[in-house]
Amino acid sequence: MAVRELLKNKALNGWALFFLISVPISLATIIEMAQVGLATPQDVSHMIGYSVRFAVPIIFLVVGISALQRLFPGPIPSWLLRNRKYIGLSFAIAMAWQGAFIFLMSNFNREYYFDEIFYLRDELEGSTGYIFLTAMVLTSFQFGRKWLRPRQWNVLHKTALYFLWAYPFSVYWWALSYYPNPQPIDHVFYWFGFTAFALRIAAWGMRRAEAGSAPINFKIGGGAIIAIGLLASATGRDWQAATTAFLATPAWSANMELWLPYWPLEPFLSLLMIGFGTLVMTHTGSHAPDVVEQGAT
Ligand code: HEM
Repeated sequence: MAVRELLKNKALNGWALFFLISVPISLATIIEMAQVGLATPQDVSHMIGYSVRFAVPIIFLVVGISALQRLFPGPIPSWLLRNRKYIGLSFAIAMAWQGAFIFLMSNFNREYYFDEIFYLRDELEGSTGYIFLTAMVLTSFQFGRKWLRPRQWNVLHKTALYFLWAYPFSVYWWALSYYPNPQPIDHVFYWFGFTAFALRIAAWGMRRAEAGSAPINFKIGGGAIIAIGLLASATGRDWQAATTAFLATPAWSANMELWLPYWPLEPFLSLLMIGFGTLVMTHTGSHAPDVVEQGAT
């Protein structure tokens, strides 16, 4: 009872919660900026990484909230769901800081930016991310939302949420599966991002299973596919090189790898497998609302 009452407190809800999250993020960023300075492109690059690390856990949390409420209903998941807009807007504040440092880097450290940072595919991924983020923020308020029908709003916010989850999730998957010396934070953020989306798949599977029980062979087959997906989620470094070489063999695929965000999807293969295993495991032949069709984002 005490937790439920506490979480109803005005100071922990709505705009008060937004400021409770955004003000410390902004203060920590300003203090770090004051200590490190912005004199060199390396300092600015540090501030890009420093500021976005506040955004990452927030977007991962937002991705998992609705599934948390479905799988583990209780005062904390319902408080998170009730305040998802304000938690999401504090993500935008942390991303605005990264955006400000990116602006400083690309406008006042152009040589370093084009020599060390600019890579077309990353630029397209990053810019698309900021376009989606801007659209999400504007349509989180009535003046922006009134331009969209409810279904359009749902599709925009779900697509944007998935895209903005995919960027940091893929950054940390590559840190663990390709780059040398992954840091402990890379492991924490990778598994946080993985768990957030795996919870969505589990909630979707639970909803499908409510429509009826699948035949045992589908359950066993689906379970086996999920097990392979889970194994793949922890062994990226063992299969990345061969998988990328295989998936990028056709010329059209190698070409797409140069510009299409996240192609050929290596970071997401384990979750795609877990999703497909869940589909098989809950296959009853009767139609159940799919992840995309369900109203809640
Ligand atoms: C055009 C847009 C973007 C540019 C130019 C950009 C640039 C950069 C740069 C230069 C770094 C390395 C900073 C360092 O030295 O550590 C970085 C790191 C990162 N960026 Fe961005 N970024 C962009 C958009 C985004 C978006 C949309 C996201 C999504 C949430 C994002 C998430 C990250 C993450 C997770 C890291 C790794 C931070 C860490 O080291 O843990 N970026 N970005």
